[in-house]
Amino acid sequence: MKHVTPFAFAAGIAIGDALAQVRVPTNFQVGVKWQIEIQNTLDITKPLEPSDAVVWDLDLYHVARNPGIVDYLRKNDSNRILICYFNAGLAQTSDCDYNTRWNNSGLLGNVYDPEEPQFSDERWVNIKNQTARDWMKDRITLANQIGCDGVDPDNIDGYLNDEDGNNGTGWNLSQDDYVSFVTELAAHAHNLTTKRGFTLLIGQKNAADIVDRIDGVLDFAVLEDCKQLNDPTEQGFCSAFQPYITAGRPVFSIEYPSTLGNADSGACNPGGANATQYAASCDATAGNANFSTVLKIQGGVGELNGCTQYCDGGRPNTGVVVTATNSELDGSPCPAGSQ
Ligand SMILES: *[C@@H]1O[C@H](CO)[C@@H](O)[C@H](O)[C@H]1NC(C)=O
Ligand SMILES: *[C@@H]1O[C@H](CO)[C@@H](O)[C@H](O)[C@H]1NC(C)=O
Ligand SMILES: *[C@@H]1O[C@H](CO)[C@@H](O)[C@H](O)[C@H]1NC(C)=O
Ligand SMILES: *[C@@H]1O[C@H](CO)[C@@H](O)[C@H](O)[C@H]1NC(C)=O
Ligand SMILES: *[C@@H]1O[C@H](CO)[C@@H](O)[C@H](O)[C@H]1NC(C)=O
Ligand SMILES: *[C@@H]1O[C@H](CO)[C@@H](O)[C@H](O)[C@H]1NC(C)=O
Ligand SMILES: *[C@@H]1O[C@H](CO)[C@@H](O)[C@H](O)[C@H]1NC(C)=O
Ligand SMILES: *[C@@H]1O[C@H](CO)[C@@H](O)[C@H](O)[C@H]1NC(C)=O
Repeated sequence: MKHVTPFAFAAGIAIGDALAQVRVPTNFQVGVKWQIEIQNTLDITKPLEPSDAVVWDLDLYHVARNPGIVDYLRKNDSNRILICYFNAGLAQTSDCDYNTRWNNSGLLGNVYDPEEPQFSDERWVNIKNQTARDWMKDRITLANQIGCDGVDPDNIDGYLNDEDGNNGTGWNLSQDDYVSFVTELAAHAHNLTTKRGFTLLIGQKNAADIVDRIDGVLDFAVLEDCKQLNDPTEQGFCSAFQPYITAGRPVFSIEYPSTLGNADSGACNPGGANATQYAASCDATAGNANFSTVLKIQGGVGELNGCTQYCDGGRPNTGVVVTATNSELDGSPCPAGSQ
Protein backbone atom coordinates (compact mmCIF):
# COMPACT_ATOMS: atom_id res chain seq x y z
CA MET A 1 0.00 0.00 0.00
CA LYS A 2 1.44 3.32 -1.04
CA HIS A 3 1.13 6.17 1.39
CA VAL A 4 1.34 9.75 0.31
CA THR A 5 4.08 11.75 1.97
CA PRO A 6 3.37 14.22 4.79
CA PHE A 7 3.95 16.98 2.26
CA ALA A 8 1.25 15.57 0.04
CA PHE A 9 -1.06 15.20 3.05
CA ALA A 10 -0.66 18.94 3.54
CA ALA A 11 -1.58 19.60 -0.06
CA GLY A 12 -4.57 17.28 0.33
CA ILE A 13 -3.70 15.47 -2.87
CA ALA A 14 -2.50 12.04 -3.66
CA ILE A 15 0.79 11.37 -5.42
CA GLY A 16 2.74 8.24 -6.22
CA ASP A 17 1.44 5.24 -8.06
CA ALA A 18 -2.08 5.17 -9.21
CA LEU A 19 -2.65 1.96 -7.32
CA ALA A 20 -4.17 1.98 -3.88
CA GLN A 21 -3.81 5.63 -2.96
CA VAL A 22 -4.57 6.58 0.60
CA ARG A 23 -6.15 10.03 0.70
CA VAL A 24 -5.77 11.51 4.17
CA PRO A 25 -7.42 14.67 5.60
CA THR A 26 -4.83 17.45 5.87
CA ASN A 27 -5.33 17.86 9.62
CA PHE A 28 -4.60 14.21 10.38
CA GLN A 29 -1.03 14.85 11.49
CA VAL A 30 1.61 13.72 13.93
CA GLY A 31 0.99 15.19 17.39
CA VAL A 32 -2.64 16.15 16.73
CA LYS A 33 -4.86 16.44 19.83
CA TRP A 34 -7.31 13.61 20.29
CA GLN A 35 -9.91 12.17 22.62
CA ILE A 36 -11.14 8.60 23.08
CA GLU A 37 -14.50 7.75 24.68
CA ILE A 38 -15.70 4.21 24.25
CA GLN A 39 -17.26 3.51 27.64
CA ASN A 40 -20.45 5.52 27.02
CA THR A 41 -22.15 7.43 24.22
CA LEU A 42 -21.46 11.16 23.77
CA ASP A 43 -24.19 13.39 25.14
CA ILE A 44 -24.99 15.53 22.13
CA THR A 45 -27.10 17.95 24.16
CA LYS A 46 -23.99 19.16 26.04
CA PRO A 47 -21.02 21.23 24.83
CA LEU A 48 -18.26 19.14 23.29
CA GLU A 49 -15.20 18.98 25.56
CA PRO A 50 -12.40 19.38 24.77
CA SER A 51 -13.47 21.52 21.84
CA ASP A 52 -9.93 21.65 20.43
CA ALA A 53 -9.52 17.87 20.05
CA VAL A 54 -9.29 17.20 16.31
CA VAL A 55 -9.46 13.41 16.34
CA TRP A 56 -12.27 11.57 18.17
CA ASP A 57 -12.13 7.82 18.73
CA LEU A 58 -15.67 6.62 19.52
CA ASP A 59 -17.30 3.21 19.66
CA LEU A 60 -18.64 2.15 16.26
CA TYR A 61 -21.93 0.87 17.65
CA HIS A 62 -22.49 3.91 19.87
CA VAL A 63 -22.26 6.01 16.72
CA ALA A 64 -24.35 3.62 14.62
CA ARG A 65 -27.08 3.61 17.26
CA ASN A 66 -27.03 7.40 17.66
CA PRO A 67 -26.48 8.88 14.21
CA GLY A 68 -26.78 12.47 15.48
CA ILE A 69 -23.25 12.14 16.83
CA VAL A 70 -21.62 12.60 13.44
CA ASP A 71 -23.21 16.01 12.78
CA TYR A 72 -22.73 17.05 16.41
CA LEU A 73 -19.02 16.34 16.25
CA ARG A 74 -18.58 18.42 13.11
CA LYS A 75 -20.92 21.18 14.16
CA ASN A 76 -18.37 23.88 14.94
CA ASP A 77 -15.49 22.29 13.09
CA SER A 78 -16.32 20.46 9.90
CA ASN A 79 -12.82 18.98 9.85
CA ARG A 80 -13.02 17.02 13.09
CA ILE A 81 -11.96 13.44 12.40
CA LEU A 82 -14.05 10.53 13.62
CA ILE A 83 -12.29 7.23 14.20
CA CYS A 84 -14.66 4.39 14.98
CA TYR A 85 -13.45 1.82 17.48
CA PHE A 86 -14.58 -1.75 17.08
CA ASN A 87 -13.58 -5.03 18.58
CA ALA A 88 -11.85 -6.85 15.72
CA GLY A 89 -10.46 -9.71 17.76
CA LEU A 90 -13.49 -10.60 19.86
CA ALA A 91 -17.26 -10.51 19.65
CA GLN A 92 -19.29 -9.21 22.58
CA THR A 93 -22.96 -9.46 23.37
CA SER A 94 -23.61 -5.72 22.92
CA ASP A 95 -22.40 -5.81 19.31
CA CYS A 96 -25.22 -5.17 16.84
CA ASP A 97 -24.24 -8.26 14.86
CA TYR A 98 -23.83 -10.57 17.85
CA ASN A 99 -27.16 -12.38 17.83
CA THR A 100 -27.58 -12.56 14.09
CA ARG A 101 -24.04 -13.67 13.37
CA TRP A 102 -21.58 -14.61 16.08
CA ASN A 103 -23.79 -16.30 18.65
CA ASN A 104 -23.91 -20.00 17.77
CA SER A 105 -21.63 -19.50 14.73
CA GLY A 106 -18.95 -21.84 16.00
CA LEU A 107 -16.50 -18.98 15.57
CA LEU A 108 -16.25 -17.92 19.24
CA GLY A 109 -13.50 -19.27 21.49
CA ASN A 110 -12.54 -18.49 25.05
CA VAL A 111 -13.52 -15.40 27.05
CA TYR A 112 -11.21 -12.38 26.81
CA ASP A 113 -9.46 -13.08 30.10
CA PRO A 114 -10.79 -15.39 32.83
CA GLU A 115 -9.12 -13.08 35.38
CA GLU A 116 -10.98 -9.99 34.16
CA PRO A 117 -14.66 -10.79 34.76
CA GLN A 118 -15.80 -7.37 33.54
CA PHE A 119 -15.01 -8.61 30.03
CA SER A 120 -16.70 -12.00 30.41
CA ASP A 121 -19.19 -11.18 27.63
CA GLU A 122 -16.34 -10.96 25.09
CA ARG A 123 -14.97 -14.02 23.33
CA TRP A 124 -12.04 -14.44 20.99
CA VAL A 125 -12.95 -14.90 17.36
CA ASN A 126 -11.36 -17.46 15.05
CA ILE A 127 -9.74 -14.87 12.79
CA LYS A 128 -8.32 -17.62 10.58
CA ASN A 129 -11.82 -18.32 9.30
CA GLN A 130 -12.86 -16.37 6.17
CA THR A 131 -16.45 -15.93 7.36
CA ALA A 132 -15.18 -14.28 10.53
CA ARG A 133 -12.96 -11.99 8.46
CA ASP A 134 -15.84 -11.07 6.17
CA TRP A 135 -18.04 -10.20 9.15
CA MET A 136 -15.32 -7.96 10.56
CA LYS A 137 -14.98 -6.33 7.14
CA ASP A 138 -18.73 -5.67 7.25
CA ARG A 139 -18.17 -3.72 10.47
CA ILE A 140 -15.65 -1.59 8.59
CA THR A 141 -18.15 -1.07 5.77
CA LEU A 142 -20.72 0.04 8.35
CA ALA A 143 -18.21 2.51 9.81
CA ASN A 144 -17.72 4.03 6.38
CA GLN A 145 -21.46 4.20 5.69
CA ILE A 146 -22.29 6.07 8.90
CA GLY A 147 -19.64 8.75 8.40
CA CYS A 148 -16.51 7.58 10.22
CA ASP A 149 -13.17 8.73 8.78
CA GLY A 150 -11.28 5.73 10.08
CA VAL A 151 -11.45 2.59 12.18
CA ASP A 152 -9.57 1.46 15.29
CA PRO A 153 -9.66 -2.36 15.27
CA ASP A 154 -9.01 -3.47 18.84
CA ASN A 155 -7.49 -6.71 20.08
CA ILE A 156 -5.27 -7.72 17.20
CA ASP A 157 -2.76 -9.22 19.60
CA GLY A 158 -4.55 -12.40 20.67
CA TYR A 159 -1.39 -14.30 19.73
CA LEU A 160 0.00 -13.19 23.10
CA ASN A 161 -2.54 -15.49 24.75
CA ASP A 162 -1.52 -18.45 22.64
CA GLU A 163 2.27 -18.27 22.86
CA ASP A 164 4.42 -20.81 24.66
CA GLY A 165 1.96 -23.62 24.13
CA ASN A 166 -0.92 -21.76 25.76
CA ASN A 167 -4.33 -21.81 24.13
CA GLY A 168 -5.84 -18.71 25.67
CA THR A 169 -8.00 -17.71 22.71
CA GLY A 170 -9.08 -21.27 22.05
CA TRP A 171 -7.90 -20.99 18.45
CA ASN A 172 -4.12 -21.35 18.67
CA LEU A 173 -3.58 -18.04 16.88
CA SER A 174 -0.13 -16.84 15.83
CA GLN A 175 1.46 -13.56 14.85
CA ASP A 176 1.21 -14.73 11.22
CA ASP A 177 -2.54 -15.19 11.61
CA TYR A 178 -2.99 -11.62 12.88
CA VAL A 179 -0.67 -10.13 10.25
CA SER A 180 -2.74 -11.80 7.56
CA PHE A 181 -6.01 -10.74 9.21
CA VAL A 182 -5.03 -7.08 9.67
CA THR A 183 -3.60 -6.88 6.15
CA GLU A 184 -6.93 -8.08 4.78
CA LEU A 185 -8.87 -5.57 6.92
CA ALA A 186 -6.56 -2.77 5.73
CA ALA A 187 -7.06 -3.64 2.06
CA HIS A 188 -10.79 -3.51 2.63
CA ALA A 189 -10.72 -0.17 4.48
CA HIS A 190 -8.47 1.41 1.87
CA ASN A 191 -10.86 0.31 -0.84
CA LEU A 192 -13.58 2.51 0.67
CA THR A 193 -14.16 6.22 0.17
CA THR A 194 -15.54 8.14 3.13
CA LYS A 195 -18.51 10.48 2.97
CA ARG A 196 -16.00 13.32 3.03
CA GLY A 197 -14.16 11.95 0.00
CA PHE A 198 -11.06 10.54 1.70
CA THR A 199 -9.83 6.99 2.06
CA LEU A 200 -11.22 5.18 5.10
CA LEU A 201 -8.23 5.12 7.46
CA ILE A 202 -7.29 2.14 9.61
CA GLY A 203 -4.92 1.93 12.55
CA GLN A 204 -2.81 -0.50 14.50
CA LYS A 205 -3.91 -1.18 18.08
CA ASN A 206 -0.98 -2.22 20.32
CA ALA A 207 0.64 -5.49 19.04
CA ALA A 208 4.19 -4.10 19.09
CA ASP A 209 5.69 -7.42 17.94
CA ILE A 210 4.19 -7.06 14.48
CA VAL A 211 4.75 -3.35 13.76
CA ASP A 212 7.35 -3.95 11.09
CA ARG A 213 5.06 -6.39 9.29
CA ILE A 214 1.94 -4.22 9.14
CA ASP A 215 2.89 -0.57 9.56
CA GLY A 216 3.22 -0.19 5.79
CA VAL A 217 -0.49 -0.82 5.30
CA LEU A 218 -1.82 1.19 8.26
CA ASP A 219 -2.38 4.92 8.75
CA PHE A 220 -1.96 5.48 12.49
CA ALA A 221 -1.60 3.61 15.77
CA VAL A 222 -3.47 3.58 19.09
CA LEU A 223 -1.48 2.42 22.11
CA GLU A 224 -2.38 1.59 25.69
CA ASP A 225 0.15 1.79 28.52
CA CYS A 226 3.09 1.67 26.11
CA LYS A 227 5.46 2.71 28.91
CA GLN A 228 4.12 -0.21 30.95
CA LEU A 229 3.82 2.09 33.97
CA ASN A 230 1.22 -0.24 35.41
CA ASP A 231 3.39 -3.31 34.93
CA PRO A 232 6.98 -2.34 35.73
CA THR A 233 8.13 -5.93 35.21
CA GLU A 234 7.40 -5.55 31.50
CA GLN A 235 9.52 -3.56 29.08
CA GLY A 236 7.89 -0.54 27.44
CA PHE A 237 7.04 -0.76 23.76
CA CYS A 238 6.52 2.89 22.75
CA SER A 239 9.66 3.10 20.64
CA ALA A 240 8.50 0.25 18.41
CA PHE A 241 5.97 2.72 17.01
CA GLN A 242 8.42 5.47 16.03
CA PRO A 243 8.31 4.26 12.39
CA TYR A 244 4.76 5.63 12.26
CA ILE A 245 5.98 9.06 13.40
CA THR A 246 8.84 9.02 10.90
CA ALA A 247 6.33 8.25 8.15
CA GLY A 248 4.15 11.19 9.22
CA ARG A 249 1.40 9.07 10.73
CA PRO A 250 0.03 9.91 14.18
CA VAL A 251 0.42 7.66 17.20
CA PHE A 252 -2.39 8.05 19.74
CA SER A 253 -1.22 7.00 23.15
CA ILE A 254 -3.21 6.24 26.29
CA GLU A 255 -1.67 6.21 29.77
CA TYR A 256 -3.66 4.96 32.75
CA PRO A 257 -2.58 6.72 35.97
CA SER A 258 -4.56 5.19 38.85
CA THR A 259 -5.00 8.52 40.65
CA LEU A 260 -6.85 10.20 37.77
CA GLY A 261 -10.19 8.84 38.88
CA ASN A 262 -12.18 6.00 40.36
CA ALA A 263 -12.38 2.91 38.18
CA ASP A 264 -15.41 1.51 40.01
CA SER A 265 -17.55 4.64 40.03
CA GLY A 266 -16.06 6.32 36.96
CA ALA A 267 -15.65 9.56 38.94
CA CYS A 268 -13.00 11.96 37.68
CA ASN A 269 -10.52 13.67 40.00
CA PRO A 270 -10.76 17.37 39.03
CA GLY A 271 -7.12 17.78 40.07
CA GLY A 272 -6.02 15.04 37.68
CA ALA A 273 -3.44 12.38 38.37
CA ASN A 274 -1.01 13.05 41.20
CA ALA A 275 2.30 14.72 40.41
CA THR A 276 4.33 11.51 40.22
CA GLN A 277 1.94 9.75 37.89
CA TYR A 278 1.37 12.86 35.78
CA ALA A 279 5.11 13.28 35.27
CA ALA A 280 5.61 9.62 34.37
CA SER A 281 2.61 9.55 32.04
CA CYS A 282 3.55 12.77 30.26
CA ASP A 283 7.29 12.19 30.01
CA ALA A 284 8.13 12.16 26.31
CA THR A 285 11.54 10.51 26.53
CA ALA A 286 10.36 6.90 26.71
CA GLY A 287 10.44 6.30 22.97
CA ASN A 288 7.16 8.20 22.68
CA ALA A 289 8.36 11.51 21.20
CA ASN A 290 5.67 13.22 19.13
CA PHE A 291 2.91 10.87 20.30
CA SER A 292 -0.55 12.33 20.96
CA THR A 293 -1.07 11.42 24.62
CA VAL A 294 -4.17 11.25 26.81
CA LEU A 295 -4.42 10.12 30.42
CA LYS A 296 -7.50 7.99 31.14
CA ILE A 297 -9.09 5.89 33.87
CA GLN A 298 -8.50 2.15 33.53
CA GLY A 299 -10.75 -0.61 34.79
CA GLY A 300 -14.41 -0.97 35.70
CA VAL A 301 -17.05 1.46 34.48
CA GLY A 302 -14.42 4.20 34.45
CA GLU A 303 -12.30 2.59 31.73
CA LEU A 304 -11.91 4.96 28.81
CA ASN A 305 -14.83 7.11 29.92
CA GLY A 306 -15.09 10.89 29.52
CA CYS A 307 -12.49 11.66 32.19
CA THR A 308 -9.28 12.80 30.53
CA GLN A 309 -6.13 14.67 31.36
CA TYR A 310 -3.83 16.21 28.78
CA CYS A 311 -0.11 16.83 29.06
CA ASP A 312 -0.46 20.61 28.92
CA GLY A 313 2.63 21.11 31.01
CA GLY A 314 1.12 22.75 34.08
CA ARG A 315 0.42 20.88 37.30
CA PRO A 316 -1.68 20.56 39.36
CA ASN A 317 -5.30 20.94 38.29
CA THR A 318 -4.69 21.57 34.63
CA GLY A 319 -5.54 19.67 31.50
CA VAL A 320 -8.46 17.78 33.07
CA VAL A 321 -11.67 17.62 31.06
CA VAL A 322 -14.76 15.44 31.29
CA THR A 323 -16.44 14.73 27.97
CA ALA A 324 -20.19 14.61 28.58
CA THR A 325 -21.78 11.23 27.97
CA ASN A 326 -25.21 9.66 28.35
CA SER A 327 -25.08 5.98 29.22
CA GLU A 328 -28.81 5.62 28.50
CA LEU A 329 -27.95 5.90 24.82
CA ASP A 330 -25.54 2.96 24.86
CA GLY A 331 -28.34 0.48 24.21
CA SER A 332 -30.23 2.50 21.60
CA PRO A 333 -31.64 0.23 18.89
CA CYS A 334 -29.25 -1.03 16.26
CA PRO A 335 -29.93 0.50 12.84
CA ALA A 336 -30.93 -1.59 9.85
CA GLY A 337 -27.90 -2.83 8.00
CA SER A 338 -25.74 -3.11 11.10
CA GLN A 339 -26.80 -6.64 11.95
C1 LIG B 1 -20.55 24.77 19.21
O1 LIG B 1 -20.30 26.10 19.60
C2 LIG B 1 -21.32 26.67 20.42
C3 LIG B 1 -20.99 28.14 20.62
O2 LIG B 1 -19.72 28.30 21.15
C4 LIG B 1 -21.37 25.90 21.73
O3 LIG B 1 -22.40 26.40 22.54
C5 LIG B 1 -21.66 24.44 21.42
O4 LIG B 1 -21.59 23.70 22.62
C6 LIG B 1 -20.64 23.88 20.44
N1 LIG B 1 -21.04 22.52 20.07
C7 LIG B 1 -20.18 21.60 19.68
C8 LIG B 1 -20.71 20.25 19.42
O5 LIG B 1 -19.00 21.81 19.50
C1 LIG C 1 -27.16 -16.89 22.18
O1 LIG C 1 -28.00 -17.93 21.76
C2 LIG C 1 -28.62 -18.66 22.82
C3 LIG C 1 -29.44 -19.77 22.22
O2 LIG C 1 -28.64 -20.61 21.50
C4 LIG C 1 -29.50 -17.75 23.62
O3 LIG C 1 -30.01 -18.46 24.73
C5 LIG C 1 -28.70 -16.56 24.12
O4 LIG C 1 -29.56 -15.64 24.74
C6 LIG C 1 -27.98 -15.86 22.97
N1 LIG C 1 -27.09 -14.86 23.50
C7 LIG C 1 -27.31 -13.58 23.40
C8 LIG C 1 -26.36 -12.67 24.06
O5 LIG C 1 -28.25 -13.14 22.77
C1 LIG D 1 -15.75 -20.77 8.88
O1 LIG D 1 -16.84 -20.61 9.72
C2 LIG D 1 -18.09 -20.84 9.08
C3 LIG D 1 -19.18 -20.45 10.07
O2 LIG D 1 -19.08 -21.22 11.22
C4 LIG D 1 -18.17 -22.28 8.63
O3 LIG D 1 -19.38 -22.49 7.95
C5 LIG D 1 -16.99 -22.54 7.71
O4 LIG D 1 -16.97 -23.92 7.38
C6 LIG D 1 -15.69 -22.17 8.36
N1 LIG D 1 -14.62 -22.28 7.37
C7 LIG D 1 -13.58 -23.08 7.54
C8 LIG D 1 -12.59 -23.10 6.44
O5 LIG D 1 -13.44 -23.74 8.56
C1 LIG E 1 -7.97 -24.84 22.54
O1 LIG E 1 -9.02 -24.74 23.47
C2 LIG E 1 -10.28 -25.01 22.92
C3 LIG E 1 -11.33 -24.83 23.99
O2 LIG E 1 -11.14 -23.67 24.67
C4 LIG E 1 -10.32 -26.41 22.39
O3 LIG E 1 -11.58 -26.65 21.78
C5 LIG E 1 -9.24 -26.60 21.35
O4 LIG E 1 -9.19 -27.95 20.93
C6 LIG E 1 -7.90 -26.21 21.91
N1 LIG E 1 -6.94 -26.22 20.81
C7 LIG E 1 -5.69 -26.58 20.94
C8 LIG E 1 -4.87 -26.51 19.69
O5 LIG E 1 -5.22 -26.93 21.99
C1 LIG F 1 -0.43 -24.17 17.12
O1 LIG F 1 -0.05 -23.59 15.89
C2 LIG F 1 1.32 -23.72 15.62
C3 LIG F 1 1.57 -22.97 14.33
O2 LIG F 1 1.23 -21.66 14.47
C4 LIG F 1 1.71 -25.16 15.52
O3 LIG F 1 3.10 -25.26 15.32
C5 LIG F 1 1.32 -25.87 16.80
O4 LIG F 1 1.55 -27.25 16.65
C6 LIG F 1 -0.13 -25.63 17.12
N1 LIG F 1 -0.43 -26.18 18.42
C7 LIG F 1 -1.41 -27.04 18.59
C8 LIG F 1 -1.57 -27.54 19.99
O5 LIG F 1 -2.16 -27.36 17.69
C1 LIG G 1 -12.23 -3.25 -3.93
O1 LIG G 1 -13.49 -2.91 -4.49
C2 LIG G 1 -13.69 -3.45 -5.79
C3 LIG G 1 -14.97 -2.89 -6.33
O2 LIG G 1 -16.00 -2.96 -5.40
C4 LIG G 1 -13.70 -4.97 -5.69
O3 LIG G 1 -13.84 -5.53 -6.94
C5 LIG G 1 -12.37 -5.44 -5.07
O4 LIG G 1 -12.40 -6.82 -4.85
C6 LIG G 1 -12.12 -4.75 -3.75
N1 LIG G 1 -10.79 -5.07 -3.26
C7 LIG G 1 -10.57 -5.36 -1.97
C8 LIG G 1 -9.15 -5.61 -1.61
O5 LIG G 1 -11.45 -5.39 -1.14
C1 LIG H 1 0.89 9.08 43.49
O1 LIG H 1 0.13 7.89 43.60
C2 LIG H 1 0.94 6.72 43.59
C3 LIG H 1 -0.02 5.52 43.56
O2 LIG H 1 -0.94 5.60 44.59
C4 LIG H 1 1.86 6.71 44.77
O3 LIG H 1 2.70 5.57 44.73
C5 LIG H 1 2.72 7.98 44.74
O4 LIG H 1 3.51 8.03 45.90
C6 LIG H 1 1.83 9.19 44.67
N1 LIG H 1 2.67 10.38 44.50
C7 LIG H 1 2.42 11.50 45.15
C8 LIG H 1 3.33 12.64 44.88
O5 LIG H 1 1.46 11.62 45.90
C1 LIG I 1 9.11 15.58 17.06
O1 LIG I 1 9.26 16.50 18.11
C2 LIG I 1 10.50 17.17 18.09
C3 LIG I 1 10.56 18.07 19.30
O2 LIG I 1 10.16 17.36 20.44
C4 LIG I 1 10.63 17.97 16.81
O3 LIG I 1 11.91 18.56 16.76
C5 LIG I 1 10.46 17.03 15.62
O4 LIG I 1 10.43 17.80 14.44
C6 LIG I 1 9.17 16.26 15.73
N1 LIG I 1 9.11 15.29 14.65
C7 LIG I 1 8.01 15.08 13.95
C8 LIG I 1 8.07 14.04 12.89
O5 LIG I 1 6.99 15.72 14.11
